[in-house]
Amino acid sequence: MGFIEEIKRRRTFGIVSHPDAGKTTLTEKLLLFGGAIRVAGAVKSNKIKKGATSDFMEIERQRGISVATSVMGFEYRNYKINILDTPGHQDFQEDTFRTLTAVDSVIIVIDAAKGVEPQTEKLMNVCRMRKTPVIVFVNKLDRPAQDSFELLDEIEKQLKISTRPLSWPINSGPDFKGVYNIYNRSLRLFDANVQEVEEGIAFDDVNNPDLEKYIGEDADTLREELELVEGVYPEFDVNEYLKGDLAPVFFGSALYNFGVQELLDSFVEIAPFPRPSYTEEREIKPDETTFSGFVFKIHANIDPNHRSRIAFVKICSGKFERNKVYKHIRSGKTVRISSPTAFMASQKEVIDEAYPGDIIGVPDNGNFIIGDTLTEGEEVHFKGLPSFSPELFRFIENADPMKSKQLAKGVDQLMEEGVAQLFTSNFNGRKIIGTVGQLQFEVIQYRLEHEYGAKCRFENLSMHKACWIECDDKKVLDEFKKRKHQKMATDKRGRDVFMADSGFILQMAQDEFKDIKFHFTSEF
Ligand code: G4P
Repeated sequence: MGFIEEIKRRRTFGIVSHPDAGKTTLTEKLLLFGGAIRVAGAVKSNKIKKGATSDFMEIERQRGISVATSVMGFEYRNYKINILDTPGHQDFQEDTFRTLTAVDSVIIVIDAAKGVEPQTEKLMNVCRMRKTPVIVFVNKLDRPAQDSFELLDEIEKQLKISTRPLSWPINSGPDFKGVYNIYNRSLRLFDANVQEVEEGIAFDDVNNPDLEKYIGEDADTLREELELVEGVYPEFDVNEYLKGDLAPVFFGSALYNFGVQELLDSFVEIAPFPRPSYTEEREIKPDETTFSGFVFKIHANIDPNHRSRIAFVKICSGKFERNKVYKHIRSGKTVRISSPTAFMASQKEVIDEAYPGDIIGVPDNGNFIIGDTLTEGEEVHFKGLPSFSPELFRFIENADPMKSKQLAKGVDQLMEEGVAQLFTSNFNGRKIIGTVGQLQFEVIQYRLEHEYGAKCRFENLSMHKACWIECDDKKVLDEFKKRKHQKMATDKRGRDVFMADSGFILQMAQDEFKDIKFHFTSEF
């Protein structure tokens, strides 16, 4: 197969949802279709979750929260599908945001009873910012659900995106009869006792009285609702979807493997193949012949016996080849990657080549950090991997003086992985950890102890926000730093950070120093 065909058959996407909406269950059902895992029928999601698929880390098993972001690849109908798993827990949203920089499209799972939940909204904001095409899967129709029209209204209003149903549910809960597939005009009947996927029944015209044979007195309601759908929603326009302006909507029940194949079949047809990436210097097209890629995730200590890390590299252009010499732009050094791995569900295997859209795992001893670029020599720097301004802060202290080296190393590596951010106070030199969620402090403490043999203590620090500051006028900047000396810190790259005690103080500072730019992400 040629280079261009390889690119065009790739679909790299992420599944996101509010916790418990069914992301894990849907992921696993998709993996079943790809033959990537072999578990018959509707296995409860947790059974697999606790098994092999995405939980690399002990901490994840302990908490039952998907801390890890892993990559699962499989082949389906001659498409190469890469699913990037994202942690559902909101304390790890920064991890999720970074993963979204490596996907070409997204499937959002929504619980049909609960509708749009806060986390869904936040994730959609990131997709909108990046103009990522989005498909919505309304899940759990086997349970009593909200009215479908109201649900679509809610999605449009809260997620600020137009919708177009491509399937339509016939009732929900105990009366759930199935879905009518508007996209390919077929009827698929639901039977809670049958888990195998059967072919849908071709049903071009719902006015055909045969419809009653299948769904009885619900036929009339379905006809009315479909008429309304056709009246209210414009024809599905795939270009609107690809621009990120329109979300096609599918209904189903991931647990019962119902509606998942429709979703997958439509997905491979309409979802985009790898899109251009942006560097500070220029746009990079996937079909350029020279290789480029960037690190969007670092996963540490997969094997607790070896201090091993894996850097996840998204390939943006050209063909990646094992053992070829590439340039690590940040250090200026050359690297030769001798055992790159690909992730086929639970199995990690060494690969010889990979194409744009693919994610490879690169074994790493601490040379890579998030955002690093690899090329065949061209000096480019990929954009779009910002650190977000943290909102929770604590001083970190060494709790075991004999282990200060281990602590320093552990903190350093965890920060490089993007678990949290480290600031050093200009005033007293104390180290401050900033996070977006409470859980990260526990993760840091746990991992320092278990992976580095170091103990730390946190001391509360009440602070509103850390923001990066810059100013063209050095005098103004110096004046600001002098005046705010007690509240100034530097980040790990030595950049100036203002630690504002409260929203009010931040506002005052912004009003008083109009020439200073206050940034709330590290990329500006
Ligand atoms: P998440 O990754 O988005 O957090 O959700 P996950 O798939 O873990 O699903 C959360 C719960 O919802 C699980 O139940 C799962 O079985 C259930 N679920 C997922 N899809 C459906 C569906 O289509 N219908 C119904 N009725 N339930 C669904 P749990 O009780 O938390 O875990 P488990 O022990 O049953 O696996």
